[in-house]
Amino acid sequence: MTAPIAPREVERFRAAIGRHTGLQFDDARLGFLGEVLQRRLTRLGRPGEAYLHALEHDPPPGEIGALAREVTVAETYFFRNGDQFRALAERVLPERMQIERPGRTLSLLSAGCASGEEAYSLAITAREAIPDPSWEIRIRAVDLNPAGLEKAARGRYSAWALRDTPPAAQRKWFRPDGADQILDDAIRRAVRFEARNLAVEDPELWSPGTYDVVFCRNVLMYFAPERMVAAIGRIAQALAPGGFLFLGHAETLRGVSDDFHLCHTHETFYYQRKDGTEPIVRRPPISAGADRAVATIVEYDGAWVDAIRTATERVASLVPGVDARIATVPAWDPAPALDLLRHERFAEALSHVQARPSDQVADPDVLLLEAMLLTHGGQLADAEITCGKLLALDELNAGAHYVLALCREHAGDGIAAAEHDRVAAYLDPGFAMPRLHLGLMARRVGDREAAQRELTQALFLLEREDAARLLLFGGGFNRDTLVKLCDQALRDSGGRS
Ligand SMILES: C[S@@+](CC[C@H](N)C(=O)[O-])C[C@H]1O[C@@H](n2cnc3c(N)ncnc32)[C@H](O)[C@@H]1O
Repeated sequence: MTAPIAPREVERFRAAIGRHTGLQFDDARLGFLGEVLQRRLTRLGRPGEAYLHALEHDPPPGEIGALAREVTVAETYFFRNGDQFRALAERVLPERMQIERPGRTLSLLSAGCASGEEAYSLAITAREAIPDPSWEIRIRAVDLNPAGLEKAARGRYSAWALRDTPPAAQRKWFRPDGADQILDDAIRRAVRFEARNLAVEDPELWSPGTYDVVFCRNVLMYFAPERMVAAIGRIAQALAPGGFLFLGHAETLRGVSDDFHLCHTHETFYYQRKDGTEPIVRRPPISAGADRAVATIVEYDGAWVDAIRTATERVASLVPGVDARIATVPAWDPAPALDLLRHERFAEALSHVQARPSDQVADPDVLLLEAMLLTHGGQLADAEITCGKLLALDELNAGAHYVLALCREHAGDGIAAAEHDRVAAYLDPGFAMPRLHLGLMARRVGDREAAQRELTQALFLLEREDAARLLLFGGGFNRDTLVKLCDQALRDSGGRS
């Protein structure tokens, strides 16, 4: 019988697990962690203090693995996010095969492979995409949780694990055995499984330039932000230049790494490691002030950017002239431009931004502000050029893609507009405006299903959207007005808010 666990001990337990595994647990999970700690103490017959001290300073062999069995999320299945395997087969592998290399070997890593379904899906995909036996495909799969690795080694799965497996692949690579499906030996032999910890330095695993492709999906979303940044840094180093990284659908590298280009093909997103010659600049997102005054809703029946212009002109006619206090600011500072923006004085804000000194010309935050202000003023060609400069510095800038979506829609290129909106929404899943824009465009072309889906999502996000971002991207409308506009558009599309 062990003594009851004190909250302080659960805190220490959470911190120690986080340090060893990179995993982050919020306060809502403290009760669960308390139960895990209790089970470990009962199992080991140790007092809490002795156990925690050892865990903090020198965990006994196998203890981190034993904890991983308890605390990791092991959900996975074959061909999860099947679009990514199509991109792998049709773009990534052919491209990697074109690269000059000493032998005909491709190296793939499934990092956080759980019970092996992802790694085996890689093996099946590679086998089918590269039938030429002169190519050797090395697939390595690593995980912290020994339970997953044991299951992977058995190669026996439930029908549920094959729920997204193409029927032809299922027939070819599996045979039924009672309620289970047994994986073909050729695929089992193609993957090497190992117990490894992605949260620690591991020079052998992360040897520079090793992998052509890394799948690390639905793993880093459970890491503390700084541990995710470190892990992505190791992956970037271990990928060959031009190698590819696949993350889970809900994971992005925005704000995490500048070492990758974003790829969008086969209706999915993934990343390609830069070749090392591009400039690398990372900046925090722009921070403006509070929400602003209510604007009058305008009838929206054309390009969204026209609605923005209408709002801009309306406001300009209401507030003529330049505020002397703002106009006489001596040294250049972006704050007055934000202040002018807050007061809907877009033309003056743009003049201020464009008068910045040469050392501020390539600041990504200011470029984004300039692009949005150009859009307000209807200077869309210039806005696009400015976005191009910004994306050359910060390719994962969701705001730049949103501004480009507005410009493309105005140019009558709805396909490119929707593509930029989708990139913006992927890069920043909390960004309401690209969803709203997608919904409004879908409504306009009569795609009710897409309109309802996007507008429902936009409505949810608008309620929670950052006030500073609404100021920058809201097109002259405040939160209430945008919510009303979105709500109305949703009803018009037959949806319910
Ligand atoms: C949700 S599963 C993802 C499986 C698969 N990648 C997929 O997307 O279907 C997450 C996996 O990450 C593993 N994991 C978590 N932290 C890890 C770490 N520090 N090192 C290695 N694997 C880790 C877990 O054990 C678990 O098997």
